[in-house]
Amino acid sequence: MKKLEINSLSEMEDFGYRLGCLLKGGEVITLNGDLGAGKTSLTKAIARGLGIEEHITSPTFTIVNEYEGRLKLYHFDVYRLESPEEMYDLGYEEYFYSDGVSVVEWAEIVYSVLPEEKLEIYIYRGDGDEERQLKFVPVGSRYEKLVEELIR
Ligand SMILES: Nc1ncnc2c1ncn2[C@@H]1O[C@H](COP(=O)(O)OP(=O)(O)OP(=O)(O)O)[C@@H](O)[C@H]1O
Ligand SMILES: [Mg+2]
Repeated sequence: MKKLEINSLSEMEDFGYRLGCLLKGGEVITLNGDLGAGKTSLTKAIARGLGIEEHITSPTFTIVNEYEGRLKLYHFDVYRLESPEEMYDLGYEEYFYSDGVSVVEWAEIVYSVLPEEKLEIYIYRGDGDEERQLKFVPVGSRYEKLVEELIR
């Protein structure tokens, strides 16, 4: 398990941008953290690293939004799902097992349908307004390498 201390929104944005730049396609990144922790902010920065210029909005009501950049981004926010079974109606496998990048906010709600291999990121608030701690749980060798590259 690896951790990273973030002191400001702009540090979070720099981190997300670097993460987005390192992605090669086919990755699944899960984001967990309380309301307002910064999941959507981090996703926006990842999108920039993927070369996506389009404005990213939270897909709370649509569950998944799709963007085109250097790679496709599938941005999930599953907060409003009642159960993981609703992911079947969305055809989640088409996204998770594609050449694009899937980012899933509130991933713990749909944990049972997530691929085994993924990068789990947990966001915790610190004392200051903009302080956050990121905790990384990479599952699978490609994600272990990714985290090594990210926070070396
Ligand atoms: N270091 C930081 N990282 C991320 N966001 C920060 C940071 N510091 C301050 N913020 C602010 O915290 C808020 C985070 O909101 P955001 O929508 O990204 O959270 P969220 O986790 O997606 O919330 P929700 O659970 O509602 O989807 C934003 O207003 C952002 O500007
Ligand atoms: Mg959000």
